[in-house]
Amino acid sequence: MLPCSSGSPKNPMGRVIAVANQKGGVGKTTTAINLAASFAAAEVNTLLVDCDPQSNATSGLGFPKDPDRISSYHLLMGAATAEEALLTTELEQLWLIPAHKNLIGANIELVDAEGREFRMREALAPVRDRFQFVVLDCPPALDLLTLNALVAADAVLIPMQGEYFALEGISELLDTIERIRAALNPPLGIEGVVLTMFDDRTNLAQQVMRELKNYFGEKLCTTTIPRNIRLAEAPSHGMAALVYDPRSKGAESYIRLAKEIIERQLPAISSQPPVGTTEISTTLPASGQAEDTGEHRTDTAVEELPAAADEMDKTA
Ligand SMILES: Nc1ncnc2c1ncn2[C@@H]1O[C@H](COP(=O)(O)OP(=O)(O)O)[C@@H](O)[C@H]1O
Ligand SMILES: [Mg+2]
Repeated sequence: MLPCSSGSPKNPMGRVIAVANQKGGVGKTTTAINLAASFAAAEVNTLLVDCDPQSNATSGLGFPKDPDRISSYHLLMGAATAEEALLTTELEQLWLIPAHKNLIGANIELVDAEGREFRMREALAPVRDRFQFVVLDCPPALDLLTLNALVAADAVLIPMQGEYFALEGISELLDTIERIRAALNPPLGIEGVVLTMFDDRTNLAQQVMRELKNYFGEKLCTTTIPRNIRLAEAPSHGMAALVYDPRSKGAESYIRLAKEIIERQLPAISSQPPVGTTEISTTLPASGQAEDTGEHRTDTAVEELPAAADEMDKTA
C-alpha cells in the first residue's frame, strides 16, 4: 500500500514543510494535520511526520498511544527506516509517521551523536520522492527535535495567533532559521506565515494583520484560519476536520491554505530547481513588535551569525 513515485510526476523530490513556532498553542498541530489532509484531499501523496513527543498529530489522526509502534523516535535513533514507520490513514493519499512520548529522550540521547541534526533528513531521504508534500509537526521548543525538522525541510510554515503579542518571540525563531541556513541547510525558505484562530471582525485582529503584512510582505498567507469549534473537536474523534465536518469553516480554510501553497509551488515546479524561496529579514525591532515602516522588509541586511558550533550548543 505504499505510494509509488508516479504519484508525484511534477515534483520528483517532494516538498518538505516544517510547521514550526516555539510558542505552544498557536495552532501548529491543527495546521499540520489539516494542511496535510487537505493536500491529500487534493489528490497529492502526502506524508505527515509527528516530530513532537506530545504526539498530538498522531492521536489527532486516531492512533492511540503505543510504545511498541515504530515512530519518529526510531527514525532519529537510526533504529528503523521511514518505510517501516509509515502508517496508512483514513485518507487514501495521506500517510503518517507517528510519534510517542519516548521521543523526548531523543533530545538527550542524541546530544553526543554524530550528525545528530541530520537524522530526520537522512531518515526521510529514501521515501521523499514518493510524496509531493511532507509535513513535519514540530514541538513547542527550539530544541534538537525542531532543529532536525528544520534541517530536513525545504521551508518553514509559521502559524501565528492573530493577537497583540503575535510577534513576540518570532525573532528568536527567525534567528534560528537564519543560523540553520548558514550552517546546516542553506536552501531553507519560509513557506509562509499563517494567521490562526483569527477573528477578522475585531479591530485588533485587523491591526495585527496589517502589522504582520508590513513585516512579512508576501510571505503572509492570504488565507487566514478562523477560530472554529470543529477544528478543536475533530482531533478528539481522531479525524482531520475535512473528514469530521467537511463543510465547516475550519475545514474549508485549510483546504484554501493547501490550495494557496500548491499554487505557490507551480512556478517553482515548472522552472527547476523547485526549491528556493525569497528570503525575509530575520531582524526585528528589539521590542519584538514590527515597525510600521509602510514597506516590506524583504531586503534588509541579515545580522552576522555565530558559528555553527554555537548554534548547536544553543539548540541541543
Ligand atoms: N482555528 C482554531 N479554532 C479553534 N480552536 C483551535 C484552532 N486552532 C487550534 N485550536 C485549538 O487550540 C489548541 C492549540 O492548538 P494546537 O494546534 O495544538 O497548537 P500547537 O500545536 O501550536 O501547540 C488546541 O486545543 C486546538 O484544538
Ligand atoms: Mg502541537
